[in-house]
Parts: sequence; C-alpha cells; structure tokens
Amino acid sequence: MNAVLTPATLDRPLIDAAFLANPYPTYRALREAGPIHWSEEFFGGAWLLTRHADVAQLLKDPRFSAQRTGAWVNDREDARGELADFQRLFARALLFLDEPDHPRIRKVMNAGFHPAVIQQLAPHIAQTVTHLLDQVANLDSFDFIEAVARPLPVRVITMLMGIENPQQHDFMTWSDDLATFIGTPQPTREQARRAQSSLLAMSRYLETLLARKRQTPGDDLTSRLVQAEAAGEIHGSAELLAQCAMLLFAGHETTRHLLGSGLQTLLAHPEQWQRLQQEPALLPGAVRELLRFDSPVQYTGRRVTTDLVLHGQQLRRGDLVLPLIGAANRDPARYAQPDTLDITRNDGPSLSFGSGPHVCIGAAITRMEAEMVFGQLLKRWPDLRLADAEPRWIRNPLYRGLEALPLTHAA
Ligand code: HEM
Repeated sequence: MNAVLTPATLDRPLIDAAFLANPYPTYRALREAGPIHWSEEFFGGAWLLTRHADVAQLLKDPRFSAQRTGAWVNDREDARGELADFQRLFARALLFLDEPDHPRIRKVMNAGFHPAVIQQLAPHIAQTVTHLLDQVANLDSFDFIEAVARPLPVRVITMLMGIENPQQHDFMTWSDDLATFIGTPQPTREQARRAQSSLLAMSRYLETLLARKRQTPGDDLTSRLVQAEAAGEIHGSAELLAQCAMLLFAGHETTRHLLGSGLQTLLAHPEQWQRLQQEPALLPGAVRELLRFDSPVQYTGRRVTTDLVLHGQQLRRGDLVLPLIGAANRDPARYAQPDTLDITRNDGPSLSFGSGPHVCIGAAITRMEAEMVFGQLLKRWPDLRLADAEPRWIRNPLYRGLEALPLTHAA
C-alpha cells in the first residue's frame, strides 16, 4: 500500500473568471499534477478527483454515500438555522439517498421514464420545438437561450409530470435560484435565502398539484408517485414532495445548458455543422459528443462513509469528495485527443450523466430533446450563425452553460 501523504492542498484559488469561462486548462493542470487534490474552496473543504477511471469507479462504490445535502447547509454556521426547510425538503430526494431507500424509489421512478412513456411524448415534444422556432422565424436575430433552451425543458418536464397550464415563469425563477445556490461553493446569505424561499414556493405549488392528483389521477409521473405512496412504496408525503421538487429542478437547468452550449459548440465548428447537414444520422453521436465536450454538470459529490486511503491520501469518514465530471470527460487516458470536438467519435459514453446507481434517469428524454432541436435547426436554417464572437458563460462552476446565445439566420 502507498504511504499516506500530507493532503495535496491546491496552492492557488481554482475558481476565478478565467476558470468559469474555460475550466479545461485548469482541469488538465490538476489531472497532470495528480489524481486527487484537497481544495478549501468547495463547501469548507473537499477532495477533488480528476481522472476518468477514478470518477467512474467512485460513483459505483458504496463506501461513498450520496447523502450530501448537509454540505450546503450544516457546514455554514450563519445559515444553519435558516436553511432547515431546505434540508428537510431536499435531503429525501432520490439523488441524495443510499440503499435501501434509493433502489426502492428509483424503481418507482424508472417506470415513469420507461422508453414507451418517452415515445408517447415524442410527437408533443417535436411540436413544441416547431412552435418555439416558429416564434423566431421572422426575426433576423434572436437569443436561442430565451427562445428555446430555457422554455423547452420546462415544457417537457411539465408534460412528463402531468402539470397542465404550468406557471412556466415561476418554475424557471425557482430553478435559477436553486441552481445559483447549489452551484456556488461559497454562497452568500442572500443566495441561500432566495434558494430556500424558492424551494418553499415550489413545494406549496406541488402540494396543491399532489392534492389534485390524489383526487383525479392521470397517466403521468406525478400520479404514479401518488399511487406509489398509497401502495407504501414511497414513505409519506415528505418523501413524495422531495421527488417532485427534485424532478422539477433537475429536469430543466441541465437540459437548457446542453441545448445552449451544444449549439454554440456546433456553430463554432462549422465543418461539423455542415457534416451533420449532409449526414443527419450522425446526430445521436453528435449529441453524445457535445455532452462529453462540455458537460452541463461539471461535478457531483459524495461523502466518505469509512476512513480509507485513496491514491496515498487519507480520507476520513464524513469527508466530501467531488468527482470532477468535466475533468474526467477530457482525460486523455480515456479519450483520444480529448480537447477536440469530433461528432464521429466512437469511444463510448462520457460521464456527463454520471454512472452507477444514480445514473441520470432523464438521459434518454434529454438526448431526444437535443436531437429534435438540432435536427429541426439543421433543416430549417442551414445558414444559422453565431451573432456574438465571445460566448457569455454563467458564473457557476457546477452548471456550465450560457447566459445568452444570440444567433442570426436568413429567414
Ligand atoms: C443534459 C441534461 C442532464 C444532465 C447533464 C444530467 C446529469 C445528471 C447527473 C450527472 C446525474 C447523477 C448525479 C450523481 O450521481 O450524483 C443525474 C441524476 C439524475 N437526473 Fe439528470 N441530467 C440531465 C437531465 C435530466 C432530466 C431531463 C431529468 C428529469 C426529467 C433528470 C433527472 C435526474 C434524476 C431524477 C437524477 C437522480 C437519479 C438517481 O439518483 O437515481 N436529469 N443527472
């Protein structure tokens, strides 16, 4: 066994403006310096994992627990009491559970994401894409994020959950507040308060929805969850509410970024955009490559459940570990020429949807959305162009995506 080393604490801040604009040079330097580093910048201190093999392995290793919402709440003295509701509402969500609760709830949710369910939604999603594009068809230029990438995922998740007349604007604001808080390693008190009040507003909305679905169930995911609660597969209304809140949130922030940065990347590589026009069958592979190239989720987190040594470092029970998905996806030990976008790349899926028991449940529906959007754009506006030379990235190290994406096309 390797000798235990003193923690390889990073000697300079990781997160600055240059990192937020382009984290990949920093990831490369970290990966080359070693497979594991200690950083004080994340939640009062966390281990960062940089290699593909380690990230993939850790996500399957039961010695690392998914229960980590405390990192957002308990480690922050000033916010401790104030964020109790946040903890109460989020900690029971699938994403943060281990065995035996995780497989019990995942089984219920899997049925709601069955390929047959997704196929049923397909024509409705295609229609929604067409409708959103129609609305900008007569404009010389438009912001793709505002016109398509932001509204589409909300509509899809609300279709899936059986939410009629969704309060789309509210959903997007709630989700933005949550993403800002969760994705900021050292959030301000104001960011924490906004996240909590948005989560409370979301849960009030969901309680009304759940009451309606209890009375008049439909053929949708929310009704399925309500029925699972009645059958004892979901334990109580707090657990039920947590799953709905997580779905409403997880379902759109991430997809928005895939659509936005994916399209930006394609248009910045015109030869690959043209290749897709000639060979639309390459589209599914192109979406997979866009996910690898710029993962919308740049890292996830786990808690160490037992003292252990990893790559010569002593990890203690309770330590937080952040597997850097963004770094793993560009690991040259796993992908040839990892910094090159290649829509014909054929070396397996990336870690953008995670791996192991918590692998993203929404992966198929997200990929379908992206294929429909890019497919319709390629047909409709082959001359689509970026209107801004410099992409405007949101200032969030967890979620990588664009604030705006101005485009032009000949109507
Ligand atoms: C580009 C879009 C998306 C990306 C990049 C993404 C990424 C991820 C990742 C990395 C995980 C695993 C996290 C971990 O292991 O800690 C995850 C889990 C999850 N995702 Fe996604 N996601 C996307 C879209 C969606 C959509 C559209 C939905 C819902 C409709 C969704 C729902 C979930 C849920 C419920 C989990 C938790 C699964 C579990 O814990 O068993 N995601 N996602």
